[in-house]
Amino acid sequence: MTFPETLTQDAARIEAHLMATLAHRADQPVIHAMRYALRGGKRLRGFLVLEGARMHGLATTQALPAAAAVESLHAYSLVHDDMPCMDDDDLRRGQPTIHVTWDEATAVLAGDALQTLAFELLADPALGSGDTRIALVAGLAKASGAEGMVLGQALDIAAETATAPLTLQQITELQAGKTGALIRWSAEAGAILAGADPQPLARYATALGLAFQIWDDVLDVEGDPEKTGKRLHKDADAGKATFVSLLGLDAAKTRARSLISEAESHLSPYGDRAANLIACARFVISRDT
Ligand code: IPE
Ligand code: IPE
Ligand code: MG
Ligand code: MG
Ligand code: MG
Repeated sequence: MTFPETLTQDAARIEAHLMATLAHRADQPVIHAMRYALRGGKRLRGFLVLEGARMHGLATTQALPAAAAVESLHAYSLVHDDMPCMDDDDLRRGQPTIHVTWDEATAVLAGDALQTLAFELLADPALGSGDTRIALVAGLAKASGAEGMVLGQALDIAAETATAPLTLQQITELQAGKTGALIRWSAEAGAILAGADPQPLARYATALGLAFQIWDDVLDVEGDPEKTGKRLHKDADAGKATFVSLLGLDAAKTRARSLISEAESHLSPYGDRAANLIACARFVISRDT
């Protein structure tokens, strides 16, 4: 199967798992909002979990709760990222955002519950031994919390009103937190599930995550809102610190391409088994969604 076919099939499995988890009381507003927030998206993080597991000889079904977990965590981060106190966005995945469709209290609560749902999913015995599940829980907590995604989001918001522009090193740290940490956990998870060394996948994902965020910043400038499902030019209007704001579009794209070459080089220990991850890396810097 090609990478696009695999991504499509994995996305459908992840969505089905998430919807089955929230099948009860779907009429309750917070649960309705959670289901709404979970729909759609590229499922790139979930794909990384499943592909990493398959590369280590595991079945897709065994890793599915971990893929669903990271997509639930990611959905929470988007619901809160879109709120008026943060990026103040009214469109996500081509639909009005949660605080617009419901209200801010529902967006806070749906985001909170998507976050706790992620850890509930990681407790699933289908993932393996208690030790394996504890390693996944601890890793996701660190990647998403005050040393990871939350830190990156805090730096991102603070940069909007900083008196001096951030340096390249500071923007790299910001983006490694807000985007890189979850992508790295996703790539490592399959190796952790298999009891294998996650280091090569971690190195791949560190470069991939940075390139992923650079391309997100590029799409904010020259993307097609019909395809991204988001409003354009939000970063410049808000005074965000990005590779594009610091280097300009062309140099930011060049940097993303060199990060993708670097990401691919870390996959050499896997040989032919890394074909889908290589295709995924190329997709990250050619995507229009
Ligand atoms: C958007 O992530 C937020 C960033 C970290 C840049 P994605 O581009 O993966 O969003 P979805 O999940 O496909 O909607
Ligand atoms: C969001 O980054 C990252 C997280 C939600 C953690 P952005 O603010 O650039 O993402 P978009 O552009 O709104 O998707
Ligand atoms: Mg943001
Ligand atoms: Mg945003
Ligand atoms: Mg963005």
